[in-house]
This record gives sequence, structure tokens and C-alpha cells, in this order.
Amino acid sequence: MPLMSKPTLLQIAMEAEAAPVAKALALGSPQPLHQHLPATIRTGGSPSAPLALVTQGHDSRFNVDAIGTQPAALTAWVAATRLSPRLIINAGTAGGFEKHGAAIGDVYLSEGPVVYHHRRIPLGNFEPYGVGSYPTVDVSAIARRLGLKLGKLTTGDSLDMSEQDARQIAASGSSIKDMEGAAVAWVASLMQIPFIAVKSITDLVDAPHPTADQFVTNLDRAVARLAAALPAVFNELDRSSV
Ligand code: ADE
Repeated sequence: MPLMSKPTLLQIAMEAEAAPVAKALALGSPQPLHQHLPATIRTGGSPSAPLALVTQGHDSRFNVDAIGTQPAALTAWVAATRLSPRLIINAGTAGGFEKHGAAIGDVYLSEGPVVYHHRRIPLGNFEPYGVGSYPTVDVSAIARRLGLKLGKLTTGDSLDMSEQDARQIAASGSSIKDMEGAAVAWVASLMQIPFIAVKSITDLVDAPHPTADQFVTNLDRAVARLAAALPAVFNELDRSSV
């Protein structure tokens, strides 16, 4: 075993998602990641399995968490260049689909490449460029052992789903929808770092209730499920040396 193992980098967009996870993983208190970014970093784990949790931080202009793909990519880039992680995990909440059997609080591991559903550029190679399609590590065996679901993740910068988004999501065969995964996976692919996503369902985007209402109602429950699942996911990742 190397004297200093490379850390696993866990990136979570919102503080409300990160705080229960940090508690479950017994991580330190949040510190600034970079002088010009709102992002934060907490560290912990063990010498053989160090762990860093970064959040995208707080947007002081709008007094909200800095969610979405811009802060996701920037935070991932700064954290990954600083830490040289062995693996990047984007964890958090996501929308699911009733038609694909999702329920509130289900925890999904990513399956297959992560795509975008809101970048429509019908100009030759710009079209697949817009979709992205960034690889993830095959964690299907871990999902089976832990009784977690597997789903293809798609990313866009809106919480709701327009008709065009819905068509794009159906065409890509995705079953979970977030606002960061593809941006973090892009950075991981640029740096040739293995990537997975772990997402807990706050809302069912094909259900009749407004997505934002579902998100607010179910956030705590979904985050508690995520925080309960992540320590076991880390154990399995260490055991299988992903
Ligand atoms: N995060 C939680 N629910 C979501 C949704 N419906 N779309 C995008 N990101 C989400």
C-alpha cells in the first residue's frame, strides 16, 4: 500500500445535501477551497483511504447555494488540480421518473455515460458535443450488493423539464436528471480521473405535482437516504479498488 494514498474527491452542490453526508463520514469543518470561489472543502477518511468533500458554496449576490453546471465544473477543476484524486464522485439529489420505477428517496448509482439534455446544437459535430457523453466507472456489482438502483444520468441547468428536454432525455435513455453530473464528469474525463455519480431522488419529474414543491418537501428525506448510503458505497469502492 502506498504511504500516502490519493484521496477520493466527493463533490456535492448544496450545503443542505453536504452537511448530513459530512456528519455520516465524520469529516472536518468546511474551509474555503479557493480565494476567488465560494466553494468549500472538508477532509477526513483514513491515511489509506483519504476523502475530500467539496461543495460549490454560497452565491452571496443571490443568497443561495451555487448550484448548476458553471460552479460544478469550476469547483471540480480547482479541487481536482489541487488534490489529484484517484476517483471523483458527484453526489446529491436528482429527479427521477415514475415511468422508470423511481420512488422518492431511492439512491441511484450512475450507469453508462453521463449526458446533457439542454445543449441543443444541430450543427454537425456540435450536436454530439452538446450531448457530451462522459464515461463513468461500472459500479453495477456494487449497486447489486448494496441494493441500490442503477440509472443513466442526464444533466441540465433547469430544475423543471421542458418538452424539448423530455424528448432529449427519452432519446438518451436516461432515468435520473440532475444539474451538475455531466459538468463534473467532463472535468474528470479531461483529467482522466475515474468518475461515478450517487444521486438520491427528491422528485418525480413525470408526476403531476410541481417539481419545485416536491423538491422542497422531500429534500431532507432524500438527503438522509444519501447520507445513509454513502459510507457503504465508500467501503465497497475501497474493497473493489475502484
Ligand atoms: N435535483 C433534484 N431534482 C432535480 C430535478 N428534477 N432536475 C434537476 N436536478 C434536480
